[in-house]
Amino acid sequence: MTLKASSHGQWSSKMGFILAAVGSAVGLGNIWKFPYMVGDSGGAAFVLVYLLCVFLIGMPILVAEWMIGRRGQHNPINSVVKVAEQNNRAKVWGLIGVAGTLGAWLILSFYSVIGGWALSYIGFSGAGDFSGISPEGAGELFSNFLGSPGTLLGWHTAFMALVVVIVAMGVSNGLERAAKLLMPALVLLLLVLVVYGITTPGFADAMAFMFQPDLTKLTGQTVLAALGHAFFTLSLGMGIMLAYGSYLGEDVNLLKTARTVVILDTVIALLAGMAIFPVVFTNGLDASAGPGLIFVTLPLAFGQMGAGSILGVLFFILLVFAALTSAMSLLEPVVELLEERTPMNRIGATLVAGIATWLLGIASVLSLNLWSELHLLPGMTVFDSLDYLTSKFMLPLTGLGAIVFLGWAMNQDSVLKELQLSGGQATAWQLASRYIAPIGVVIVFISSLFS
Ligand code: PFF
Ligand code: NA
Repeated sequence: MTLKASSHGQWSSKMGFILAAVGSAVGLGNIWKFPYMVGDSGGAAFVLVYLLCVFLIGMPILVAEWMIGRRGQHNPINSVVKVAEQNNRAKVWGLIGVAGTLGAWLILSFYSVIGGWALSYIGFSGAGDFSGISPEGAGELFSNFLGSPGTLLGWHTAFMALVVVIVAMGVSNGLERAAKLLMPALVLLLLVLVVYGITTPGFADAMAFMFQPDLTKLTGQTVLAALGHAFFTLSLGMGIMLAYGSYLGEDVNLLKTARTVVILDTVIALLAGMAIFPVVFTNGLDASAGPGLIFVTLPLAFGQMGAGSILGVLFFILLVFAALTSAMSLLEPVVELLEERTPMNRIGATLVAGIATWLLGIASVLSLNLWSELHLLPGMTVFDSLDYLTSKFMLPLTGLGAIVFLGWAMNQDSVLKELQLSGGQATAWQLASRYIAPIGVVIVFISSLFS
């Protein structure tokens, strides 16, 4: 949605589109969230379910969102309504777009808080705070950080300000182009960390933890977590990929492109896990430490490496970049909605959307310290509640709406034609889009009610 030509044009190139989609997908979800969720959920069984969800449910829904967007040629809400009308269906399908925009706002509010953590860790690393740090020291550094609401607020503000400036100035285009260089650099640094991990005694345990599934560890809640994260990591269920689709040229092959984006996103998440868990097992840390996991393990790894401080600075800078391209994609739908439905211009709309998100983010900041006892959903802080509501509830439901719409409300001949599928491949696609993906989501929901 940022690389558009004048008026409602198309992506300047296929490459531009892939960059924007990968920019939105690859972010804190891969490097911060995936490892701690693996740790929280007991390891390989979660990884296995996650992979199934990403490929069998996430990928068809990614295709569905792009196709609806490409046909609708409008913002997420109007696109769905338009395609519904084309297919003689009720306008109520437009709710998919409404729920998506709301979800984007909720997610960005806490995403920005974690983006702030990454920003501040650039500074810690640069100041040499990691060199020779002990496991206890790394834990203390992080918990002291979490315990200072003012500091957290400052970094949350800084991150959100960066997002607002980038979106308001319309320079997201440039940032996405930069991602072409920065994303490979991030992968390279992850590889350095993985190689470092291989040299540590905990490596074998880490691999077993991530890749030898013990299916008895699966509960309905774990499976729901894996499904929710599949949506989160691919930026699904928020109208974002729908919006991107509206700038997509007819010549782009949706299935191939989806495969590229999904594989890249998955590889980066797996690499992050393979970088983190050797450190966890080598130092006897708690794999289920939660959202702080990478902020305790990475300082240890960098602290023990040659040139660790510099590598640490570089790593957190690249993480911030990856987070920014995702955050931009989250702010954009809110901005577009305000621009279209109110008299505000782009800068005004961006400021208002940014401030609204920043304000909500303050609740997440406080839930890590002063408000840690305040529960929004039963037993969950504001931060946990927002994550739960969005990842485990809104995203899967909205994504379900998109895939049911594509599989059951749209004309299937035209869908198959657009995907250039026939014969066995067409049957496989229909099986995936009409049955496996939607029924998968429903089964996960139902099983999560029981455990
Ligand atoms: N997919 C991003 C990540 O994995 O970090 C996060 C995200 C971006 C989620 C955009 C949702 C979204 F719409
Ligand atoms: Na991701």
